[in-house]
Amino acid sequence: MFAVAERGLDRVFGQRLNPFYHLGALSFLSFWIIAASGLYLYIFFETSISGAYPSIEELTHGQWYLGGILRSLHRYASGAMVITAVLHLLREFSLDRLRGSHWYSWFTGVPLLWLLVASGISGYWLVWDQLAQFVAVISAEWLDWLPIFTDPMSRNFINAAAVSDRFFSLLAFLHIGIPLALLLLMFVHIQRMTEARSNPPRGLALGTLASFIVLSLAWPALSQAPADLDFAVGSVDLDWFYLAIYPLVDRWSPGAAWLLAAGVTTVVAILPWLPPGRRGPAAVVNLENCNGCGRCFADCPYDAVTMQPRTDGASFAEEAVVADDLCARCGICVGACPTATPFRRASELVAGIELPALTVHDLRERIQGKTEGLDGEGRVLVVSCRERPRVAESAGVVAVELPCVGMLPPPFVDFVLSRRLADGVMLAGCSDCDCRYRFGNDWMDARVAGERDPALRARVPRERLDRYWESRPARSATAARLERFREALKSLGPYQRNAAATPTREVRDGAD
Ligand code: HEM
Ligand code: SF4
Ligand code: SF4
Repeated sequence: MFAVAERGLDRVFGQRLNPFYHLGALSFLSFWIIAASGLYLYIFFETSISGAYPSIEELTHGQWYLGGILRSLHRYASGAMVITAVLHLLREFSLDRLRGSHWYSWFTGVPLLWLLVASGISGYWLVWDQLAQFVAVISAEWLDWLPIFTDPMSRNFINAAAVSDRFFSLLAFLHIGIPLALLLLMFVHIQRMTEARSNPPRGLALGTLASFIVLSLAWPALSQAPADLDFAVGSVDLDWFYLAIYPLVDRWSPGAAWLLAAGVTTVVAILPWLPPGRRGPAAVVNLENCNGCGRCFADCPYDAVTMQPRTDGASFAEEAVVADDLCARCGICVGACPTATPFRRASELVAGIELPALTVHDLRERIQGKTEGLDGEGRVLVVSCRERPRVAESAGVVAVELPCVGMLPPPFVDFVLSRRLADGVMLAGCSDCDCRYRFGNDWMDARVAGERDPALRARVPRERLDRYWESRPARSATAARLERFREALKSLGPYQRNAAATPTREVRDGAD
């Protein structure tokens, strides 16, 4: 389902602005819109039992051009935050991005949802209309089921005599305090990622804000009839994003609703540890080949590599150290390491940093073995990321899979072409902004463009390298793309070294 939706959205928005690739960032954006609009609403909100409802009515109608719009923005951004957070959860699940080192973001995401819902509920309560009354009564019944209150809340607080201005101040405090805790946890949630993308691209952010404004003008958020605790609430319009559990508390029993909520929360929270388990061992550093350059440290998307003082007496100042529990086994560090060059004549090719499940030596062997079977004109080696659908092989096409396309050290492209193992190389990875391991294709693009070490040598003819970034393409789309590439290669004829290109930084990438 995600594959179909994302392909459709790719066509409408393009890869860079596809909202599905920025769901976590859109939750952040929603939060900032909620916070900014909420601040304004709070200035005019009266925290008293008699003043709450009229002050919001005044904002909505008397000040419709600003207060009214901001109230609606507050409401729509709150809805959007739930939608984007839940879609984000489902998508991370669909990508299996919860096991191993990913457990941390997954596990901290679960209380985020609770805090988000609690923030929304406390907000609905403040309006003190019929919906607020329904929320107040059902929340009290629900909380009363827990053996934490000596006196039932529903009897002591939720009746006309007991709901006081002080109680309203407490609610206002909760409606500020819980979102602040939410914000704190949002930052905890992204702690283990380097350069976490918590801001959507500018175009997407502006488009989202504009669509909220349009919605606010077309369908302004309104209060329902004022609350009256002397009468039971007949019927209310629910906000299903925040209050979906409330009808269950009402219809079933508070105990059953707690059981459901706690059961779902527990299952979701422990998913990272349910089978199937994590795959393969973490990246390992081979000190005899590590010169302490720090490229693996710079490129690791999960802060799993640190640079520490040298321990083996070598003349380099630092060495790379991998934290097993943070390592996602993506291999991007291998692609970054200058010693991972297939041209090296060492009997056993060992890079400074390796993924034991697929060493650089094995990768060279695999590529050499596979390309031996290539035949005819326009021969292509596809190096694809394991997350994508398998590429169909044929007489002219062979494919090698890596955990992430960013694992391929650029000298391998040079090696394949200059040794004429194939006429062209296709790198097939996830869509822009959607790398399974966050930065695999970004770093590869930068390495090919010569903007990031290790840069692809200038002598490599770029027209023989096709970068195909699409996370979940249809088989036919990949076949068509390959066909076009092969036709282009045939018209180029046999491989010639790009003599015109002046060597730049490639000299440092391991000489031929
Ligand atoms: C308030 C709601 C949430 C916000 C604002 C949020 C935000 C984010 C952001 C900004 C990222 C980083 C994206 C990147 O740079 O690649 C992220 C990643 C992630 N989030 Fe959330 N998130 C929220 C809720 C959740 C929930 C409910 C879950 C699941 C239970 C979850 C699971 C994850 C996972 C697994 C990752 C990816 C970590 C990785 O690549 O290893 N998030 N989130
Ligand atoms: S494989 Fe390398 S780049 Fe990937 S998380 Fe582990 S240490 Fe970082
Ligand atoms: S990139 Fe390679 S050589 Fe550089 S610090 Fe990391 S392991 Fe060592």
